[in-house]
Amino acid sequence: MAVSKRNIVITGGAGFIGSHVVRLFVNKYPEYNIINLDKLTYAGNLANLKDVEDKPNYKFVKMDICDFDAFYKLMQEEQIDGIIHLAAESHVDRSIKDPFTFARTNVMGTLALLQAAKLYWESLPEGYDGKLFYHISTDEVYGALKMNKPEGVEPPFSTTASSTEHHLAYGDDFFYETTKYNPHSPYSASKASSDHFVRAYHDTYGMPTIVTNCSNNYGPYQFPEKLIPLFINNIRKGKSLPVYGKGENVRDWLFVEDHARAIDVIFHNGKVAETYNIGGFNEWKNIDLIKVMIKTVDRLLGNPEGHSLGLITYVTDRLGHDARYAIDSTKLQKELGWEPSLQFEEGIEKTVKWYLDNEAWLDNITSGAYEHYYEEQYSNR
Ligand code: NAD
Ligand code: DAU
Repeated sequence: MAVSKRNIVITGGAGFIGSHVVRLFVNKYPEYNIINLDKLTYAGNLANLKDVEDKPNYKFVKMDICDFDAFYKLMQEEQIDGIIHLAAESHVDRSIKDPFTFARTNVMGTLALLQAAKLYWESLPEGYDGKLFYHISTDEVYGALKMNKPEGVEPPFSTTASSTEHHLAYGDDFFYETTKYNPHSPYSASKASSDHFVRAYHDTYGMPTIVTNCSNNYGPYQFPEKLIPLFINNIRKGKSLPVYGKGENVRDWLFVEDHARAIDVIFHNGKVAETYNIGGFNEWKNIDLIKVMIKTVDRLLGNPEGHSLGLITYVTDRLGHDARYAIDSTKLQKELGWEPSLQFEEGIEKTVKWYLDNEAWLDNITSGAYEHYYEEQYSNR
């Protein structure tokens, strides 16, 4: 899209991935107005954006995406032409305990944004020309892949191998853009529903939309309820590491800044009405990944090798725990030229270092104002 000035709302910009997207857009596009719209739930933290908060092209608006009237007014006042929608309830374990909140935010919130955008854009003389509603979704909507690892495949970690050598480490199939939706958790069911609404607004009203489905992200500023930051934090504190089931589930990990770069490429060059899968061809069994984290944290803290292995504690499995995710991102790589920039070994080293160097960020989230909710949910781990 050859437009030099844009007024863009990024929802969920105070969260993990959103903060990286906001940072990238604010720094890379000084001519754009970037509005970070976030309700600041437990997962939203403006400290994630300290380095860009004073930039002239950045503005924060505290708003609930379910507030249709407020969002419609914002669209008018700011003459919004692009929406990058990341705001969501994002943690599977919370969705198992409280599915209603997930339906409200992820389904009704997305619908409120779509309807407000529709009414505003349709009221303009140019209509939908130059507009885009870009919805960020997850690979979890595709369900779970089988674990049918071919004999003789070794555990994936190696300090020299490139991540592409880990193709199909634990099964004989990927999730493709054409894979049928089959969500299992309340979280993935709510994301699947929101994806359908976004596509329905394109098919019914002609709204220019794009949906992307990404694999597990890791990196700085992730809320320490998710596997990687939770375990780094627990290792540094000598707390137990609750491994669900046997630790055999497989996830496909992508460094968060690579996801943000993909969002940039797709926002600017993606084809309207298309779906793009985003992933790094980087499958890991949880237990293998956990051992790498233990090794890395121990080394960086100066502990002897194997020091924290005893923290591993096998606990009751997550209900409906999806066995394996593995994304095929060939379409994005071939059509738009994106590819992951970091090998996993570098990414995990960078990530562990970041959390160890930013203990104040972690401590603030796991104590004080956050303490009550966090401890209530996680005190038994
Ligand atoms: P996150 O939980 O870290 O952040 C979510 C943000 O949304 C927070 O800032 C929160 O305050 C905000 N928010 C929540 N409810 C809101 C509401 N009602 N109104 C306005 N703001 C609200 O999530 P994340 O991990 O950064 O994920 C961002 C998006 O990317 C989500 O849509 C998620 O489904 C998707 N996604 C995440 C991953 C991953 O590995 N984390 C992978 C693929 C896709
Ligand atoms: O695949 C993309 C999805 O990845 C995103 O859509 C979600 O928003 C994001 O939270 C993530 O979902 P997961 O459920 O895969 O991530 P989580 O970090 O919660 O768990 C990763 C794996 O580790 C999963 O198999 C469950 C396991 N696990 C997790 C936690 C928190 C444990 O064994 N112990 C734990 O304490």
